[in-house]
Amino acid sequence: MTRLVVLKEIDPVERRVAVVPADLPRLDDLGLEVVVERGAGESAGHPDSEYELAGASVAPLPEALDKAAAVLVKVRPPNEAEAGALPQHATLICFLPPATNLPVVGKLRDRGITTYSFDLAPRISRAQSVDALSSQASASGYEAAILAARRLGQMMPMLMTAAGTIPPAKVFVMGAGVAGLQAIATARRLGASVSAFDIRPEASEEVRSLGGRFVDLALEATRGAGGYAAEQSEEFLRKQQELVATTIADSDAVITTAAVPGRPAPRLISAATVETMKPGSVIVDVAAASGGNCELTRDGEEVLHQGVLIVGAGNLASEVPKSASALYSRNVSNLLALLVKDGRVVTQPEDEVLMSMCVTAGGQVRHEPTRAAMEGTAE
Ligand code: NAI
Repeated sequence: MTRLVVLKEIDPVERRVAVVPADLPRLDDLGLEVVVERGAGESAGHPDSEYELAGASVAPLPEALDKAAAVLVKVRPPNEAEAGALPQHATLICFLPPATNLPVVGKLRDRGITTYSFDLAPRISRAQSVDALSSQASASGYEAAILAARRLGQMMPMLMTAAGTIPPAKVFVMGAGVAGLQAIATARRLGASVSAFDIRPEASEEVRSLGGRFVDLALEATRGAGGYAAEQSEEFLRKQQELVATTIADSDAVITTAAVPGRPAPRLISAATVETMKPGSVIVDVAAASGGNCELTRDGEEVLHQGVLIVGAGNLASEVPKSASALYSRNVSNLLALLVKDGRVVTQPEDEVLMSMCVTAGGQVRHEPTRAAMEGTAE
């Protein structure tokens, strides 16, 4: 049997786990023997005893990695020290945006580790079952609306009482991709009046189908490849900022999720625009980890600027760790179903999904843009 180790996340703010006990029978069917690092699932609501009951063994580090650990799974990218301690020639599955993790990629390459990154999953129908970016974005979008509701000093739904009528909160969602659409759906369920904007014109139909109003800016955006948005010119972003400013000023809560893969988040809200918002309003910036959509965002922090609260919410999926882990774990086991045949890891996969997701293998960087970036930097 091939040994798979579920690693505990080392970043204290990360509460998700890569494999949940419910998926252990699927891994067993693939011929994998599962070892869970002690305490790995605890913050996601899965104590060690639950894994043991489902057939896994539990061990602390370094014991968990001692004996022929062939496949290692986790959520976050390893840091350099963590990558340096992973067993040589193992296979690692996790999130790893290579462009912003070049030293870690170098470490993994030098240790002969084969790395599959969910950040590189292709956006084709066949790859939907391993699309962890989407599964985690759904969790983030949900949590963004809940967080906005919690931080806002007013209720989301309209309330008619003998003491008077409270109007519904006005929520504006910028970026209507996977996270944005889930934020719209959740804010609508809470009873808010929701409007949204995205540079992809096809998003307007999706926003309307969820009961939101699409704010049409009549701007011609540059189209991206493969269903993604492209980075827009400075002139476009300046115009966009101008056109959305009145909608932002009129909103009680703004949820921003705009992103361009591999690039810093587009700047959509200036400090001057924040200053036009009503005191007590809230901005939840889901794009905080890649620089933020708002000029005043600081990832992982809450900034109060002239009465407006700006929440830098770059890791919201971790705030609903049980649900987010269940989805991620299913993505992981679907990937393993492609990678493990007859109980053994396929070393030279010809599968298009696996090939796209491969960052390092056989002592080399396999992801071409990353290799080019590394050759361009003095390592
Ligand atoms: P993402 O996380 O990369 O970006 C989030 C949103 O920000 C996108 O909708 C993008 O258009 C928008 N955005 C970028 N620049 C903006 C700007 N300046 N102003 C306003 N909005 C801006 O994208 P995500 O959410 O991962 O996916 C986007 C779309 O891709 C989905 O809605 C879906 O249509 C498609 N998709 C296709 C999949 C497949 O075929 N397997 C899987 C997942 C998504």
